[in-house]
Amino acid sequence: MSTETGESFTFAVLSDTHIFDKAPADLDIDAYKQYQTSRMYWDTNERFLAAAERVNELHPDFVIITGDMIDHISPENILLYNQLSRVLSAPIFPVIGNHDNTSMTIYKKPDGEIDVQWNLAEPNERAKFRSGIFPDGKFNYSFSRNGFKFIIVNNAEDVSILEQLSWLESELRSGSDGKTFIFNHVPLKTPATTETIRRVWAGNESLVMGNSEPQFELLHAYNSKIACIFSGHLHTFSDDMVEGLRQVVCPMTVQSPDSFLLCICNAGGGWDYT
Ligand SMILES: [Fe+2]
Ligand SMILES: [Fe+2]
Repeated sequence: MSTETGESFTFAVLSDTHIFDKAPADLDIDAYKQYQTSRMYWDTNERFLAAAERVNELHPDFVIITGDMIDHISPENILLYNQLSRVLSAPIFPVIGNHDNTSMTIYKKPDGEIDVQWNLAEPNERAKFRSGIFPDGKFNYSFSRNGFKFIIVNNAEDVSILEQLSWLESELRSGSDGKTFIFNHVPLKTPATTETIRRVWAGNESLVMGNSEPQFELLHAYNSKIACIFSGHLHTFSDDMVEGLRQVVCPMTVQSPDSFLLCICNAGGGWDYT
């Protein structure tokens, strides 16, 4: 694949890898194993590596991970993510998830403060544009490839919604018609996401952020620009169209080695995924 101007390119979308250190300090390992196994998987690290191998076989030009890269914030988990994610051959663009910030942590410094340290990891050499794991340490950022625009939005933690919407609108304005992708961690509320929440998450509506509606309204106003909104968080795939906006919720990558999407953007401006 090539990323020369006007040529087609591909990108893989992974989600909810929930990588974590299996021997955290000061925790009873048996209780920890029981806790983690009751929530999801004990072997997310190994499952991530198996999926990464499949992704590498497809040679995407880059990878986007739609959040929950790690299971909870701790220096060990961030360093482990940085180490394991290097197995992916392509550069990675991460989206911050609720498990990647202080709202979901079992780690606290001795003084009780929670310390978010995504920038403690060394940058991945293959991603020259990056400073640390997030570009310039920012959780809201964008980049362009061959006329397509990729806007990465932090909707997984408390942010100044007005400030963020103003930033998002300026990013949308400069995107090309039908060639702008939005990446959230938390999906916008749509019939498909409501159905997933009912079926998989016992109707827990808090899994769709309150900020969903203002963002949806803004994206709707720029409908003509948007190719697709991708997200994760629900650990279950869905693809639906609401008022002309398409939203794809990516499956949880560690469920099986094939639980990721491969998207192709072609020279004519079209796109699709498998
Ligand atoms: Fe998750
Ligand atoms: Fe999440």
